[in-house]
Amino acid sequence: MSALIEFQDVSKVYEMGDSVVRAADHISMQIQKGEFVAIVGQSGSGKSTCMNIIGCLDVPSSGTYLLDGQDVGKMNKNQLAEIRNKMLGFIFQQYNLLPKLTLLENVEVPMMYAGVSRSDRRERARVALEMVGLGSKVNHRPAQLSGGQQQRVSIARALVGEPAVILADEPTGALDSHTGREVLSLLQQLHAAGNTVVLITHDNSIAVQAQRIIRLEDGRVIYDGDAHAPEAVVSPNLAGTGGGQ
Ligand SMILES: Nc1ncnc2c1ncn2[C@@H]1O[C@H](COP(=O)(O)OP(=O)(O)OP(=O)(O)O)[C@@H](O)[C@H]1O
Ligand SMILES: [Mg+2]
Repeated sequence: MSALIEFQDVSKVYEMGDSVVRAADHISMQIQKGEFVAIVGQSGSGKSTCMNIIGCLDVPSSGTYLLDGQDVGKMNKNQLAEIRNKMLGFIFQQYNLLPKLTLLENVEVPMMYAGVSRSDRRERARVALEMVGLGSKVNHRPAQLSGGQQQRVSIARALVGEPAVILADEPTGALDSHTGREVLSLLQQLHAAGNTVVLITHDNSIAVQAQRIIRLEDGRVIYDGDAHAPEAVVSPNLAGTGGGQ
């Protein structure tokens, strides 16, 4: 069976005048259906670059990105938008909810693009909001909720279209540690229910909540394996110095 997400020697190069940055530097990796993977690394290591490629928001400079076996690098803008709507559910640090819409309407938005009928949209949005524990607040507006609750709305919106991949970029970045843990445990529940979850974070203590860690440094993969192995959270540059974390 082919991987759900596959990078074959993917590079992303930014040229700024004389300087060239290899934001992704010959990355090869596969993510299978049903995995919970954290992509982790320090600021500037290439996480957002990888997230943009995985999310079909950008294409590699060289190498091949296959999403469910389809070569994303060969797609035009419309095809990218279409595969994005069909295959991906996004969760961002800033929840990106529409302030004038109710929670129900916010969660309905992605299904409007997908052409789902109004009554189906309503029903599915209601179910998704119940799933994240907000069934009693469906007619509230985002400003009437706490940050953690708003993030749960954005999770409901991400999963309502039953995407093949849930892609979360620093989803706990704006939350206190307690609320952040609740959001993470929701992602773990989604994984336990069979969803594929890719989590982008700079924070080791968040990355270890996943099953598998892919660690980036200067655009390269320096670790790919079990999130619970001791070497998963230690940069090789620090190993053996006694510095650890
Ligand atoms: N549009 C761009 N133009 C030029 N350079 C870029 C661009 N986007 C990213 N870079 C460079 O590519 C490298 C990787 O950036 P990226 O945003 O992927 O890092 P990151 O791991 O997401 O960092 P952070 O944790 O700060 O969000 C950095 O050196 C960055 O300056
Ligand atoms: Mg980033």
